[in-house]
Amino acid sequence: MLNFRRARLGVFLIVAATSLRPAINVLAGPSTPSQATASAPSKDVFDFNFFQSKVQPIFLKERPGHARCYACHSDPNRVFHLERLPEGATKWTEEQSRRNFETVTRLVAPGDPRSSLLLIHPLAPEAGGDAFHSGGRQFESQNDPDWLTLAEWVRGARTGSGGNSNSGSLIYVTNSAGATVDVVDPATNSVVQVIRGIELPHGINFSPDGSRVYVSDESESVVDVINRERGEIVKKIPLSGRPNNLTITKDGRRVLVGIRTLPGAVDVIDTSSLTLAKTISINRSIHNIYVTPDGKYAVAGSIESKSVTVIDLQTDQVAWEVKFDNGVRPMAFDTNPDGSTKRIFVQLSNLNGFAVVDFAKHAEVARVKFPAQPGGYGAAEVRLNTPSHGIGVAPNGKSLWVGSTVANAVFEYSLLDLKLMGYCSLPHVYPPNHAPTGSVPEWITFTPDSRFLYVSNSGARSVSLIDATNRKLLNVIPVGEVPKRINTLVLH
Ligand code: HEC
Repeated sequence: MLNFRRARLGVFLIVAATSLRPAINVLAGPSTPSQATASAPSKDVFDFNFFQSKVQPIFLKERPGHARCYACHSDPNRVFHLERLPEGATKWTEEQSRRNFETVTRLVAPGDPRSSLLLIHPLAPEAGGDAFHSGGRQFESQNDPDWLTLAEWVRGARTGSGGNSNSGSLIYVTNSAGATVDVVDPATNSVVQVIRGIELPHGINFSPDGSRVYVSDESESVVDVINRERGEIVKKIPLSGRPNNLTITKDGRRVLVGIRTLPGAVDVIDTSSLTLAKTISINRSIHNIYVTPDGKYAVAGSIESKSVTVIDLQTDQVAWEVKFDNGVRPMAFDTNPDGSTKRIFVQLSNLNGFAVVDFAKHAEVARVKFPAQPGGYGAAEVRLNTPSHGIGVAPNGKSLWVGSTVANAVFEYSLLDLKLMGYCSLPHVYPPNHAPTGSVPEWITFTPDSRFLYVSNSGARSVSLIDATNRKLLNVIPVGEVPKRINTLVLH
């Protein structure tokens, strides 16, 4: 059963004691016994720069249908009181911002938005908020972008978090129902570019020099070629049928596109002429397609034919195939010490886990099931036929991360022995008038240093940022509608 921790009226907020400031308990209503968690993360998690640049503007912002927080909360009698803006000014001075920061950090629980008065008091009761707020239902749901920004800050988001080592990469998110592609900069974990004009973006990949982005476009059955810097479509290349995912050869000379419409095929785009060079017919509708880490093979999965087809990229002929009892979903690969492909990890329809294919044996050798807990999600979302979606091997080759809709979590397995290391739970979604659901993880990508992973939450209009070192959810980044495939572009 799901066990949702709902914040109630009367929650005590415990602010960790530091040498600078004694512990302060803020009572948010009629008293109930407080639960001081000894292991509560320190208040150092709160970043002043993030507060100043992203949180404070929310208090001043005119949000449609609502009075501004500032209008009422500049009253000095409020527990949540904001400094009065200097005469004629539209923002607070540095000193005032510091005072606001001091006040507001008393209203939040480190790392835990749902125990934070600042987030729960103005949130609609149906969405998990308090029963009454004189300032009204400022946030209809926990998916409100401003609410998500407050939650990010409470979870420890910093401006510049992600570290400089990732400043040379970008995370691309296809919003499958939003007709957009969002580009997230891991240096700031915010959307820095939006690519428009693709109604049903499916797969996304990049030229090795980072100058172009390729997107398979289901609505027009083309590959859209995008000038990466400008974020504009420069060419639409017609395909032999409706595409699903795509990939690119290591030398960047050919884009391979899985064609889902029957008879099914792999279309090959020549990236120098930007034309369809050939169609490799394999008589299977293709969903996802990959190039093995050594660049020698293409591996195409079929839902309908329940198969994995391995194509030799020297000859463009089918080399071998593995059949399964269920439709083939996303895949990931690990390598032998010489760089050759060791195993394929295969997600299947109706399997809350993954299958393991030995690349040398051309056969399935193991099947790994996730533990029963966490569990219980996926029924309301009508996703039980795809219990596990999204899989990736970290660039450092140490672990395999696998998303589960049923668990509303991402599991980490050690690649050495396929031992379960632990998991990170994903956010809940609070649809008005419905029971809360999971966020329906869809796809996984990593920062090049393997320290962070990004998971598209297809049911929550967001991407989760997870710290791979401790499997902690660091940040939830709002993106467009039904985000699915995500991929990391490494800039040189
Ligand atoms: C129309 C006036 C009004 C607006 C606008 C308003 N509030 Fe309030 N808020 C109040 C009043 C009055 C209280 C105290 C009584 C209560 O809890 O209802 C309060 C209480 C709170 C509390 C509990 C701490 C305290 O000061 O008592 C929080 C946290 C809070 N509001 C957050 C917000 C946020 C965040 C916004 C903007 C997104 C907001 N409020 C907008 C009037 C308002």
